[in-house]
Amino acid sequence: MPVILELKRVSFFAQNRSIIDDFSWQYAEGKTTALAGPSGGGKSTVLKLSAGLLVPTRGEVSFRGTGIARMNQKENLEFRREAAFVFQDSALWANQSLLQILELPLRIHFPKMSQAERKRRIEEVLNEVGYKKEMTIRPSMLSMGEQKLIAFARAMVCRPRLLFLDEWTESLDGSAAQRLVNLVKTRQAAHDTVIFVSHDLGIIRDMADQVLMIQDGKLLVSLTREQLDSDANLVQYLEKGIAS
Ligand SMILES: Nc1ncnc2c1ncn2[C@@H]1O[C@H](COP(=O)(O)OP(=O)(O)OP(=O)(O)O)[C@@H](O)[C@H]1O
Ligand SMILES: [Mg+2]
Repeated sequence: MPVILELKRVSFFAQNRSIIDDFSWQYAEGKTTALAGPSGGGKSTVLKLSAGLLVPTRGEVSFRGTGIARMNQKENLEFRREAAFVFQDSALWANQSLLQILELPLRIHFPKMSQAERKRRIEEVLNEVGYKKEMTIRPSMLSMGEQKLIAFARAMVCRPRLLFLDEWTESLDGSAAQRLVNLVKTRQAAHDTVIFVSHDLGIIRDMADQVLMIQDGKLLVSLTREQLDSDANLVQYLEKGIAS
């Protein structure tokens, strides 16, 4: 399987503290990778580094062989159109209506798209995520779970092929979470690349081809789905690592 994204000896410092330490990994194209581990271990930071949203202090992240930090404007725009990110805290624009929030990526990446087509596309993703309330309101009027649905819809609106999902079923009830799981499964079946963070062992075991255990800013161990399916001790180890 070709490598779509590579982290080469990536370290990240913030406020003179080492957050991520000498992290290397190759993500296979069309596969699903779960990042797991204890709270504060560095999962969200690794996800953001992988997506080029944070720039490594040392080392490099490359997308199909090109260093993300060294991309020209055109390459960067292409990468941004192909990739989408759901933030752990949803990160919706506070001063925009939900409609404006969903329109923005389409306006950036498909400037020639007609208003009618934008409307159709937005209705389609809202239907997929199961959001039914009005669209003229601002994010502060939504529950955390509803914000997650809008964040998910925003991520999907440009039809990305590379998904970065941070705690994407958190604060959702069972049926809303299941709807998003099913949605991601359709993307898996279409051979999209998915990289997600989750505390939910059931979802990890159900969906990941590969699991990276991250603790204290380091890659502790990587496990394949086959290993998880066949080795109860490993599952127990993973469960402990997530819960600690
Ligand atoms: N910009 C920053 N400045 C200072 N410290 C940071 C910064 N970003 C992250 N950290 C610290 O780095 C560590 C890892 O954070 P990160 O958010 O990646 O963890 P996580 O594994 O996603 O945790 P959780 O499961 O709680 O979401 C934490 O101790 C956090 O406080
Ligand atoms: Mg996190």
